[in-house]
Amino acid sequence: MSSSPTSFVQAVLLVSLATLLLILSLGSSAEAGGAPLSSEAQEYLQAHNEARAAVGVGPLEWSEALANASGRLVRYQRNRMSCQFANLTNFRYGANQLWAGGGPETPRMAVEKWVEEKQYYSHADNTCAPNHTCGVYTQVVWRKSLQLGCAQATCLKKVQTSITICLYNPPGNYVGESPY
Ligand SMILES: *[C@@H]1O[C@H](CO)[C@@H](O)[C@H](O)[C@H]1NC(C)=O
Ligand SMILES: *[C@@H]1O[C@H](CO)[C@@H](O)[C@H](O)[C@H]1NC(C)=O
Ligand SMILES: *[C@@H]1O[C@H](CO)[C@@H](O)[C@H](O)[C@H]1NC(C)=O
Repeated sequence: MSSSPTSFVQAVLLVSLATLLLILSLGSSAEAGGAPLSSEAQEYLQAHNEARAAVGVGPLEWSEALANASGRLVRYQRNRMSCQFANLTNFRYGANQLWAGGGPETPRMAVEKWVEEKQYYSHADNTCAPNHTCGVYTQVVWRKSLQLGCAQATCLKKVQTSITICLYNPPGNYVGESPY
């Protein structure tokens, strides 16, 4: 026999997986109301929305305007500011930043770093453990933030580093307000 039953089953599975992926990508392009989302955009969005769903908060939507704004920010920090964090005091969007040594981070790795702060956050009284910060996590799960856009730049110096910025609209982290 030229083709075993097993490989036939595998081929069928692959075809249905491809169909499923096609349907999923059509779904996300319809949601965004424009071009299909890049795989990076989908990964940033998925990682955020998993962290939000874990605490019963609705999903974010990808915003091309925020993605463009974060792209301009990371390129500016790379080209002019030696890849340091951007000063986003009084910025009109909420923002999370990640600086990483040892090469680029995947979108999921970046978001998971931010979500690590969750262990220090107490939702019961909306406080953060002493000597820790929770604002990066609370922005990820901020219920009133509805749109997300992220970008990363890789900085080649003595060692490879990267900077990732995600922007959130409307911004979160209002003092005295609980994220959800
Ligand atoms: C984002 O940038 C792309 C590429 O420069 C441009 O075509 C698009 O119109 C921009 N979108 C928004 C919403 O600013
Ligand atoms: C960031 O910018 C604000 C003004 O927008 C300024 O007051 C502050 O000193 C700056 N912080 C740093 C670290 O440069
Ligand atoms: C917080 O950090 C300060 C200074 O490093 C230290 O003196 C204090 O014991 C720390 N508190 C806790 C609860 O770890």
